[in-house]
Amino acid sequence: MMTSAAHDTGTADCIAIIVAAGSGSRAGSPPDDNANRPESDHNQEKQCPPEKQFWPLAGKSVLAHSVDVFLSHSRIKTIIIVTSAHNLDHVKSQFGANDCHVIQGGATRQQSVYAGLKTAADIDPTARFVAIHDAARPLLPPCLLGTMLATINDAVAGVAPALPIADTLSSVDAQQNIDRIIDRTPMRALQTPQLFWREVITNLHQQYADDPTFTDDCGLALAAGHTIATVEGSHQLRKLTHPQDYAMLKAYCSNANGTLLTTGYGMPDIRIGNGFDVHKFADTPGPIMLAGLSVDSARGMLAHSDGDVALHAICDAIFGALADGDIGHHFPPTDPQWHAADSSLFLKFATERVRARGGQIMNLDLTIICETPKIGPLRDKMRARIAEITNLPLGRIAVKATTSEKLGFTGRGEGIAAQATASVILPDHEDQFLPVPTAPE
Ligand code: CTP
Ligand code: MG
Repeated sequence: MMTSAAHDTGTADCIAIIVAAGSGSRAGSPPDDNANRPESDHNQEKQCPPEKQFWPLAGKSVLAHSVDVFLSHSRIKTIIIVTSAHNLDHVKSQFGANDCHVIQGGATRQQSVYAGLKTAADIDPTARFVAIHDAARPLLPPCLLGTMLATINDAVAGVAPALPIADTLSSVDAQQNIDRIIDRTPMRALQTPQLFWREVITNLHQQYADDPTFTDDCGLALAAGHTIATVEGSHQLRKLTHPQDYAMLKAYCSNANGTLLTTGYGMPDIRIGNGFDVHKFADTPGPIMLAGLSVDSARGMLAHSDGDVALHAICDAIFGALADGDIGHHFPPTDPQWHAADSSLFLKFATERVRARGGQIMNLDLTIICETPKIGPLRDKMRARIAEITNLPLGRIAVKATTSEKLGFTGRGEGIAAQATASVILPDHEDQFLPVPTAPE
């Protein structure tokens, strides 16, 4: 029925289930941390339940962090929060007004998830996907869910964020002595949210309802022989399990001055790049390609490819934001296969490079510098064409033009120049800021 292509429809088709029914026994008692206590709780300490998912973190509860990320995601239709019987009223009072469904969980995480899945089937059986998330992982990078939704396909039951293991891995014997070192290369630590085809994971939970021993939903899907894809996880997705995890999570929420970052979700990696290109007019007649359109022109352009300066400048702006070389690096002018090439292919490639990094282009701003052709009448068509190539909304694409007042090569009508700026948001990877190791002497 489905193709194996990734599913990125852009419409709301995913339910989020946040499991928050645990007792947090390993985390212990709540921190004495009035500085971090949510504003609303300052004078009502007693009303805040003691479990870790209700601890204060950067001005709101641990649970509220994940709820806010899901609430602001365009693909999320509904949020179901699963909590324990004795916290139902508290969670309803905090999140019930935000269109979140608050329900009672079970004795194990697996039972809590199953309760969430049954509610999902009741309230919204048309949702194709479900993202199952631990409330105990508050700092969900906003880009991650989009990356997983773009990755899931009909060859897999689901997608999970996974991190390579940094420590040496071993097993120990009954005396706690190391008996074996395990090759860590293929090992991954799995995190949440884990994204599944809703019907598939619901049926699996039904099938395994009498064996409530699985620590997460990937385990259950794997036991039934399904394949689960992985995407790169994030260190900030660390689970609040032990008291020391709380200190780490607070550190992720703060900058060097100890104040909260504006997003509150950790550190999205926002990039800016600029690009510039020039092509010379040829002695042959036009038309020319400009911003993806064929445009009437007395003279054609001299170029190896189709000579679209505008798209070339945009490509370089995107490559610049990614620190990923430039257009000549990816499409060498010496390579005959790019002779007369359609530059929209270059721009599609640049867009795909962003997507492959789990990122998103936020906006593109293009300036074309020429005496002719006149850009004003073509502006909106150019924006629409760039939107079509990059799959971006029109409101994120600007096309501007200027002459150079008859000065210089553009002023003399010898060629056309274009410059562009791209902003790109990438998932956070805090280790990108670690110093580059130098080779040992
Ligand atoms: N969880 C749940 N229902 C349970 C047990 C756990 O919804 N019966 C949730 C927790 O609230 C948490 C997530 O599953 O968000 C991951 O579980 P874990 O980190 O083990 O949390 P707790 O079970 O609360 O902690 P502990 O095991 O230390 O008691
Ligand atoms: Mg537990």
